[in-house]
Amino acid sequence: MNRAGALPPGPRGTLPSLARFARDPVGTHADWAARYGDPFTQPMPGFPMVVTGRPDVIRRVLTLPPGAFGVIDAGTEVMGRFSLIRLDGTTHQTVRRQVGPLVMDPLRHGNGQAIQEIARRHFAAAVGQPPTPAIGLTKRLTLEVILRSVLALADANTLDRFAVAYGALQSKASFLLHFVPALQIDLGPWSPWGRIKRARQQVDAIIAAAIETAGAATKLSGPLGPIARAAAEASDPVLGIESLRHQVFTLLSAGHASTAQALAWAVHHGWSDGTILARLQAELDPTAPDLDPGQVIRLPYLDAFCREVLRFRPIGPMIGRKLNQPIEIGGWSLPAGTVIGLSVSLAHRAATGFAEPDAFRPERFLEDCEAQAHAIPFGGGVRHCLGANLALTEMKLALAELITGYDVTLLDRSPPQHRLIDAVAGPTSGVMVRITARKAA
Ligand code: HEM
Repeated sequence: MNRAGALPPGPRGTLPSLARFARDPVGTHADWAARYGDPFTQPMPGFPMVVTGRPDVIRRVLTLPPGAFGVIDAGTEVMGRFSLIRLDGTTHQTVRRQVGPLVMDPLRHGNGQAIQEIARRHFAAAVGQPPTPAIGLTKRLTLEVILRSVLALADANTLDRFAVAYGALQSKASFLLHFVPALQIDLGPWSPWGRIKRARQQVDAIIAAAIETAGAATKLSGPLGPIARAAAEASDPVLGIESLRHQVFTLLSAGHASTAQALAWAVHHGWSDGTILARLQAELDPTAPDLDPGQVIRLPYLDAFCREVLRFRPIGPMIGRKLNQPIEIGGWSLPAGTVIGLSVSLAHRAATGFAEPDAFRPERFLEDCEAQAHAIPFGGGVRHCLGANLALTEMKLALAELITGYDVTLLDRSPPQHRLIDAVAGPTSGVMVRITARKAA
């Protein structure tokens, strides 16, 4: 048993460790676990994080009740003070119930067809264009889908204004700024934090206008109207209009880049292996050209392929939990208040969870029902990703359009690396592609 207050060994230096983890979140955790053991301590800006990839501990922590966690307030300033990710306990659960309907049923009210139309339009626009990183396409696509799904925004002008303001929030420099409070100084519109603050205000104004329009509408096309009206009447500020704006921003931020990076990796894995592509085409071609969204999302190989992309390339490589209670991990007795990092990187490559974990093999999700239980791309328990259903639906519908309608040529000279980009992980090059209309077989 360890000395009181002692933490497991681990790498030294916050910024070098963060930089190394950012460059290779899967390999770095594997190296540190081999060198220091599991658990190890990873220094993060502002606090040490005790990291584990042990499936039993991960399961134990993820299934703890709501009161067992406190908030880790790191890099979340920009989300807004009421943001779901800054709430804990029963308040967090209440707000999850309030906003859940915005994303829980991705196919409602023709939304499935809208996702297909958006995907088709973006892919068609890329035909005949010079080589382009797939991530550019998938980011535009996922931003439009999420604004349509959550805020019912479809007007091209508003979408453009939103994309510009939102892009400024995600500039390269902003990653460090979000994580290091000492750098968050507003020295006017040209200073880095000043620019971020003003971009955030512009985004907020667009969100506020969309919420107001939905709240005033008598004919409803989705759940935002009733939620906006209830928020306008709420006496508890955590369920009020300002809070709803923060929740909507949180949904957009959590759901946009993550799904875009997952789709970019899906393009790489789909088109870099002829056998996998042939299987996807064999499953999808009979349903084309009028793909029924309800049918597409239930196709078994497409489902297995998307799950394998999310296993092999963890978009959120680590899930944090600040524990309100002591815990024992691998002989280390850790006090209440310890921040635990559940390493998705380690869990998804554990030989105890997956046969041949370093191979990309979608079939594992068809053959082995245990694989599903071991994969945690969307976390779990009371903070499980609220948009998991939307993300998977979106991936499947967009990929179905691309697979049935287009030929994709991969142009990277060497395979992209998986690294942290925009606070989620994705392929270094963004996956360079040329897209052409599909030739008949
Ligand atoms: C491939 C895409 C995505 C991946 C890999 C992903 C992954 C994750 C992960 C790992 C978490 C942390 C879960 C935990 O702490 O247990 C999370 C949380 C969250 N995600 Fe996602 N996500 C994706 C897409 C989306 C989408 C499309 C939305 C919304 C439209 C969304 C909304 C959220 C929200 C709101 C949370 C915070 C939940 C809470 O704290 O209660 N995500 N996501």
